[in-house]
Amino acid sequence: MNNEILLSVRDLRTWFELRRWGFLRVGFVRAVDGVNFELRRGEAIAIVGESGCGKSTLARTILGLYPPTGGEVLFNGQRFDKLGSRGMREYRSQVGYVQQDPYGALPSFMNVHRILSEPLLINGVASKDERERRVRQALQEVKLTPVEEFLPKFPHMLSGGQQQRVVMARAMILEPKLIVADEPVSMLDASVRVEILELLRGLQRAHDLGVIYITHDLSTVRYFTERIFVMYGAKLVEKAGVNELLHNTLHPYSRALLAAIPDPDPENAATFREVPSGEPPSLLHPPSGCRFHPRCQAIIRDLCDVEEPPEFEPKKGHLVACWLYR
Ligand SMILES: Nc1ncnc2c1ncn2[C@@H]1O[C@H](COP(=O)(O)OP(=O)(O)O)[C@@H](O)[C@H]1O
Ligand code: SF4
Ligand SMILES: [Mg+2]
Repeated sequence: MNNEILLSVRDLRTWFELRRWGFLRVGFVRAVDGVNFELRRGEAIAIVGESGCGKSTLARTILGLYPPTGGEVLFNGQRFDKLGSRGMREYRSQVGYVQQDPYGALPSFMNVHRILSEPLLINGVASKDERERRVRQALQEVKLTPVEEFLPKFPHMLSGGQQQRVVMARAMILEPKLIVADEPVSMLDASVRVEILELLRGLQRAHDLGVIYITHDLSTVRYFTERIFVMYGAKLVEKAGVNELLHNTLHPYSRALLAAIPDPDPENAATFREVPSGEPPSLLHPPSGCRFHPRCQAIIRDLCDVEEPPEFEPKKGHLVACWLYR
């Protein structure tokens, strides 16, 4: 990893218009609402937050699958939404996508050989020998060997873990600079989760890949990423290095997330009490001020419920959007 910036996300907003009976505008679901971060070349980061907080929408906006409502995404310093269709295809070839549901992500009527050959054909790898070489190499990298055994198989003939390996091989086949992995193991058996995450980490290191690893489960990020970003109500509320975030957790929501991880040490069981009650915030009518204020036990009345907290940096490299650190 070096300090070169691969991806900059600036004040990114992705809103979905909500209509009743197809024409009556009810409002906007603000699924991503003012997200800022930078990813260095070869760096792995995790975005962690409860279901419904906007993680997949953020992923899909970065991948160019949803147009941003506002703000910008720069890849290698260039705005991808200004690239035009050719530039967009080039961008997509440099960014691999690993989805939550591998079976849904793979076309059921194609065998593994065709699934992996198609992106090469579409992106102009004309030489058949070169395509064959790269298909085989990709399967070896995701450890689906012997390769000859897997090439003719269709998705339904593979286990969930093997399907996700094929998805990863497809994401890697165009030699991307960035992989966006959206809950890649949450639908897999617990027994294969660690293997798949270790495989992703191995690929990241071997190819100096940027990785955005998205999860609702903080317990899976510890050994896997350099930094953690905590997402709540369509915003990133805390950003820090892994050790710093896990051992010096600042935002009340991040603390609650951490406390929700079962701790085998009975001396630490008291932390369970911190888990906030209440529902995640509506993204159609978000709470005023800090979006966490209806659930926050540390709330400062007449401030938190009125004014949105800006990002403070109480320690270098540790950012937190909470009035407690003003
Ligand atoms: N295509 C869409 N159209 C309308 N609303 C959407 C769409 N995709 C997601 N949403 C809404 O945006 C919010 C965030 O969803 P999502 O990004 O899937 O969150 P997460 O991945 O964190 O569970 C949810 O309220 C969801 O219902
Ligand atoms: S800004 Fe206020 S309500 Fe929001 S997390 Fe911090 S203390 Fe709680
Ligand atoms: Mg999701």
